Amino acid sequence: MAALKITIYCFFFLQVLLCLLSSCALTNAQGLKVGFYNKACPKAELVVKKSIFDMVKKDPSLGPPLLRLFFHDCFVRGCEGSVLLELKNKKAEKNAPPNLSLEGFDFIDNIKAALEKECPGIVSCSDVLALVARDVVVALNGPSWEVETGRRDGRVTNINEATSNMPSPFSNITTLITQFQSKGLNKKDLVVLSGAHTVGDAHCPIVRNRLYNFTGKGDSDPSLDKEYAARLRRKCKPTDTTTDLEMDPGSFTTFDKSYFKLVSKQRGLFQSDAALLNNQETKSYVLMQTKRYGSTFFKDFGVSMVKLGRIGVLTGRVGEVRKNCRMVNKY
Ligand code: HEM
Ligand SMILES: *[C@@H]1O[C@H](CO)[C@@H](O)[C@H](O)[C@H]1NC(C)=O
Ligand SMILES: *[C@@H]1O[C@H](CO)[C@@H](O)[C@H](O)[C@H]1NC(C)=O
Ligand SMILES: *[C@@H]1O[C@H](CO)[C@@H](O)[C@H](O)[C@H]1NC(C)=O
Repeated sequence: MAALKITIYCFFFLQVLLCLLSSCALTNAQGLKVGFYNKACPKAELVVKKSIFDMVKKDPSLGPPLLRLFFHDCFVRGCEGSVLLELKNKKAEKNAPPNLSLEGFDFIDNIKAALEKECPGIVSCSDVLALVARDVVVALNGPSWEVETGRRDGRVTNINEATSNMPSPFSNITTLITQFQSKGLNKKDLVVLSGAHTVGDAHCPIVRNRLYNFTGKGDSDPSLDKEYAARLRRKCKPTDTTTDLEMDPGSFTTFDKSYFKLVSKQRGLFQSDAALLNNQETKSYVLMQTKRYGSTFFKDFGVSMVKLGRIGVLTGRVGEVRKNCRMVNKY
């Protein structure tokens, strides 16, 4: 008995020691922490915030693609900036079909240049994406949260990984749940993060099958509100590949909870949005957020974004801090 006690004490002591050595009180298991740049680059977060607020003031529609960029980065190889890399032969992640309209690369370059001027070689491109995602949401009148930083940038990008890891707008709920689970995100994270579709737009081809030929009989998707489908058909002719559709019509540059109202009324734009009604847990979350009082979406969004930001991160001495977000460093 005594021996066991001593063993337990020793074990406890060792844990405390390890904790102190790795300052585990301040960092999470993966070595990220809020305010990672406070000492080395105290103005880092300010530089990002200012650029985003200036940009959104000029043109709010530039914000949503930058929020989407972070999601894509994190789902392929983890949040390590690989979505920004370019390869000479064009076989990078950003060239894979789910890229569709990943915009905003120039904007990330500008912010990175400003940061390099402020403190060269300190702030990683992957952290820029994480900070940008938060600041875009705030600038579009959404919630704020504390962003963990300390990510380092990867040196690999691969077109096939983007194709196989990115959730598809045509997926059913089972597939979506599995894909999120494989990244350590649960059903609640899935439905909460889908709420990002309260901002931004999408292109006609993504909804074409829901409007014109859902089962190959010239029909439309029965899970899409009839009146809404008719409205979408007026905007998107069968061969239209360029028209933008606001995902949350009327408030596509305001981060609010109206996405859930749309989904509950069968007006979610993608099959993946509509699918949230096909699981008990995700459905009850959607319905909960449509109530006038007691919506938890804003608080939940920050929590799930922090989880998203932890996927497959590189910290410590792994990876590098890229100088140019489009290229790995040369040694
Ligand atoms: C649940 C799985 C998801 C699927 C299948 C999905 C799919 C898509 C698709 C197909 C588009 C439209 C692309 C286009 O036509 O230009 C889009 C747009 C967007 N997505 Fe998602 N998405 C998902 C989750 C997320 C998450 C988790 C976030 C962020 C946290 C996000 C943020 C956005 C934003 C902000 C846009 C608008 C981009 C713009 O205005 O250009 N999405 N998404
Ligand atoms: C994105 O994917 C499409 C295929 O859907 C491709 O035609 C396009 O070139 C890709 N975009 C970039 C920047 O590579
Ligand atoms: C969901 O989609 C996957 C992949 O396309 C398919 O294998 C599966 O049968 C679908 N599940 C349901 C319940 O429709
Ligand atoms: C609808 O889909 C069916 C089966 O995939 C195809 O044979 C038919 O040509 C399509 N019709 C149109 C108008 O695209």
